[in-house]
Amino acid sequence: MPKRRVPTEVIEGAVVVVALLLMIPAGVLGWVIGNASSGGTTTVTAAEGAEAGSAAVDPQVASGAHLFVQFACAQCHGMQGRGGVSPYVPALTTASKTLTAAQLRQIINHGLGESANPTKPFMPVWGEVISDTQVNDLVSYIRAGLPAVPTATPPVVPTGQGAAVEGSVLYVRYGCINCHGPNGLGGVPNPLSADKTIPPLSGQDFRSEFDTDQKIIDVIQSGSVIGKAPIVSMPHWGGILSQQQLNALVAYLKTLKG
Ligand code: HEC
Ligand code: HEC
Repeated sequence: MPKRRVPTEVIEGAVVVVALLLMIPAGVLGWVIGNASSGGTTTVTAAEGAEAGSAAVDPQVASGAHLFVQFACAQCHGMQGRGGVSPYVPALTTASKTLTAAQLRQIINHGLGESANPTKPFMPVWGEVISDTQVNDLVSYIRAGLPAVPTATPPVVPTGQGAAVEGSVLYVRYGCINCHGPNGLGGVPNPLSADKTIPPLSGQDFRSEFDTDQKIIDVIQSGSVIGKAPIVSMPHWGGILSQQQLNALVAYLKTLKG
């Protein structure tokens, strides 16, 4: 039996469409740059401009800025650590001036011992999840005054595309993926916890233990109290995630393997 083949016209058609789509933003960017520089003396190409933009940032600070977004530090402490998210989560602008590198490393690796109080957000324990290099980069970023770094921005949550799509992006934006794995598959080591691993959010065991939406929402809001450092615990997201965001996360988790 012959293998199923996609007709070449279809492939060619798709290539043309993709090429056209790529040309539109390039054209717009070219026009903007052309116009912006028409009064000046230099003309920069888009590629040179982008390179110059990133070359201006110290690589360790840049790495820290991206990690600050990837591990959702920004979702609790605010973008660039400017606060304003929850009354229980401090801005990091003061800490960036007053805390030593050693103190910052200690706080990031071990939290601040607040996880015994499940009624308000606490600083999570990251030591088993984030490497020493990554912690050092985060410390460099904080001590550099938490500057804005191009493209170190969280993914934009789409609206009007359904709760599951919204939830799938929130799962990345709030850093759930770093601890619970892609597709909620779990497997991230948590050596000193009873299970030795951070639990999956898919599969039969999860589905039978968390058999109502409310049970899932309750644990996301309250976090867990097992987290005495160096055990990684479930962060407390109450007051940080809205009811709509919680519902969207649940809708997404229900699309994963049962
Ligand atoms: C779930 C919310 C949450 C997340 C995510 C989070 N933090 Fe925190 N963080 C807190 C809370 C709450 C405190 C204050 C705890 C306290 O004072 O006991 C805190 C405290 C801190 C402090 C000490 C601030 C001070 O002024 O003493 C630093 C530094 C810090 N966090 C850095 C980070 C970094 C870096 C990340 C990302 C790797 C991060 N946090 C992620 C909630 C969070
Ligand atoms: C710092 C790592 C970390 C992050 C980030 C994190 N979790 Fe967790 N989560 C855990 C750990 C550890 C547990 C297990 C808690 C326990 O056993 O008490 C857990 C438990 C859970 C549970 C209950 C599952 C079970 O079997 O106990 C749900 C649901 C959950 N997390 C959802 C989320 C969602 C949604 C996000 C993002 C908003 C998130 N988690 C972010 C570490 C994390």
